[in-house]
Amino acid sequence: MPHRHCRDVPVLAVAPAGPEGLANGLWRLELENPGFTGVKPGQFAMLRPPAWGFDPLWARPLSISRALDDRIVFHFLVAGRGTAAFTRLAPGEPVTVWGPLGQGFAVEPGAPTLLVGGGIGIAPFVEYAATHPTPGKLALLFGHRPPRSCYPYDELGAMIAVESFQDKTPEDIPRFVELLEKRIAEHAGGLVLACGPTPLLRSVKNLADKHGVRAQVSLENRMACGVGACLGCVAENPEGHRVQTCVKGPVFWADKVTL
Ligand SMILES: Cc1cc2nc3c(=O)[nH]c(=O)nc-3n(C[C@H](O)[C@H](O)[C@H](O)COP(=O)(O)OP(=O)(O)OC[C@H]3O[C@@H](n4cnc5c(N)ncnc54)[C@H](O)[C@@H]3O)c2cc1C
Ligand code: FES
Repeated sequence: MPHRHCRDVPVLAVAPAGPEGLANGLWRLELENPGFTGVKPGQFAMLRPPAWGFDPLWARPLSISRALDDRIVFHFLVAGRGTAAFTRLAPGEPVTVWGPLGQGFAVEPGAPTLLVGGGIGIAPFVEYAATHPTPGKLALLFGHRPPRSCYPYDELGAMIAVESFQDKTPEDIPRFVELLEKRIAEHAGGLVLACGPTPLLRSVKNLADKHGVRAQVSLENRMACGVGACLGCVAENPEGHRVQTCVKGPVFWADKVTL
């Protein structure tokens, strides 16, 4: 098993993501690398600044968006108190970080692989594209509401084939699902990997099943410990058994988890 680190490391940078990120609650955070090596894209880290004291009590999980020798990069959406507090971190301030945690996405160098990102679910695919041995086999379909410039979409576009769809009204969602079905059908014999809101993961699971494509989905269940100790993150498998998302996931084969 790869070594897991828990260390206080300094913030290197925290800033709104792109010109329109601030208005949309989307941020980029860089921390000194706590010693993470061999990160598998799709793995995550737990983050907790010591300055939080007892409030909030629990760390917050974020996908590792990039793991470089000197730094790890995250992209996040302000969802509540913890993520709002991340935006107030200052360069040099310590953050307690543990990871890399969980199971990453499958990497199959020979398989045409469709990455499906919904909103901030694009985050782990930056590392995926950057470390894939045959990036020419990869394509990204990205669905989003805020402008694309709030996300690391252009970073991915520099590495692999990318396509985006912005939904502006509820009527756009079925149109996105139509496009998703077309792309999934084109990947028969390949692999589909998805990260994003649960309704998107459910569509991916159902469409992959319909077209006989192998698919993985990354779940974002609420987590407290991240290491299998608190049972705060359980999902259910088709046999009705509970599974801990933090250790058995967050990435699951789509037919092995109930959505
Ligand atoms: C493995 C994993 C990887 C993740 N990666 C990222 C990432 O790269 N970028 C990112 O922006 N977010 C990511 N998330 C979601 C992120 O952890 C939550 O948004 C965050 O914990 C919310 O904390 P908060 O204190 O801001 O919100 P809280 O005050 O705890 O809650 C505010 C609102 O956010 C909702 N919420 C809380 N936890 C989650 C959750 N886990 N998922 C979705 N909604 C939640 C609550 O239901 C509530 O409505 C990830 C979650 C998991 C489990
Ligand atoms: S988050 Fe504690 S068991 Fe999964």
